[in-house]
Amino acid sequence: MDDRTPARIAVLGTGLMGRPMAGRLLAAGFPVTVWNRTPDKARPLADNGAAVASSPAAAIRDADAVVLMLADAPAIRDTLLAGEAAALLHGLTVIQMGTIAPAESLEVAAGVVRRGGSYLEAPVLGSIAEAAAGRLLVMVGAPPALFERWLPVLRAFGPEPRLIGPPGHAAALKLALNQLIATITTAYAVGLGMVRRAGVDLSLWADIVRSSSLYAPTFDKKFNRMVDREFTPANFPARLLLKDLRLVVDEANRIGLFAPFLEGLVEIVARAVEAGFGEADYSALAAAVEPPSNPA
Ligand SMILES: NC(=O)c1ccc[n+]([C@@H]2O[C@H](COP(=O)([O-])OP(=O)(O)OC[C@H]3O[C@@H](n4cnc5c(N)ncnc54)[C@H](OP(=O)(O)O)[C@@H]3O)[C@@H](O)[C@H]2O)c1
Repeated sequence: MDDRTPARIAVLGTGLMGRPMAGRLLAAGFPVTVWNRTPDKARPLADNGAAVASSPAAAIRDADAVVLMLADAPAIRDTLLAGEAAALLHGLTVIQMGTIAPAESLEVAAGVVRRGGSYLEAPVLGSIAEAAAGRLLVMVGAPPALFERWLPVLRAFGPEPRLIGPPGHAAALKLALNQLIATITTAYAVGLGMVRRAGVDLSLWADIVRSSSLYAPTFDKKFNRMVDREFTPANFPARLLLKDLRLVVDEANRIGLFAPFLEGLVEIVARAVEAGFGEADYSALAAAVEPPSNPA
């Protein structure tokens, strides 16, 4: 790649987030090849100018960098570090943007570097709307020179990608943020349940929280969904929050934090998933907190 030629980018994983992110790369003028395990989710990107590959290896064969927006670390191992694709990593830069644990990120990094590739982790905060608008908060774990080199690509996803530190640091920060999402959303659902069952006007609850220093903007985004029990369509599905919370618990145990409430959060979100809300928005945890069948 010379400085005047836009880098050729492969995107593996065109799910809820990967699809609009691939769209951002195309809009920014990068030649993009996409692959998705379920081909129907990749094909619509052909209308925006993407080449659609039939395998991960075919997607990365002629690429300068590959953006991974896959569900989890096992998906990354199956897709990139196994089979034909693993033999094509030499000279390729891997930009891993899904939410995985720091140790998993380091393991993927080692697998990529061992095969002659380069590795950046770049997990994101923000959801589908932010991905479509290029307003994600992009947190990067990489050597500084690699961060600088790939900034033009990272800027397609968010206006101000931030270098957090070496690989592992951005992954840790992302897990810390997602435990915050789960914690404050659950706490809000518990409060809502308490005041609803006491017969308090729910708009008073929302107003008073909003006027207080306890307020977080996410509360208003989730209020109607929780009150109306309308949890679809999902931005961030409950099954993915459950995946992240399990990573958070493992990480907290590994580094010696005492935070037993995290196990309770896993139980709550797992219950919502078991009740059929896995594909619903994670605010469906409110349905587990306040089950309809409970006596008021
Ligand atoms: N949604 C959000 O708001 C959000 C925000 C920030 C970060 N994230 C993180 O970003 C990542 C992607 O999230 P998403 O919302 O786009 O999820 P998603 O819609 O479920 O997409 C997951 C992608 O991973 C693929 N995949 C799963 N298992 C696979 C396997 N074993 N082999 C190959 N491909 C596999 C899926 O393929 P199929 O289509 O075939 O299932 C799909 O392309 C996750 O790590 C998530 O935690 C999500």
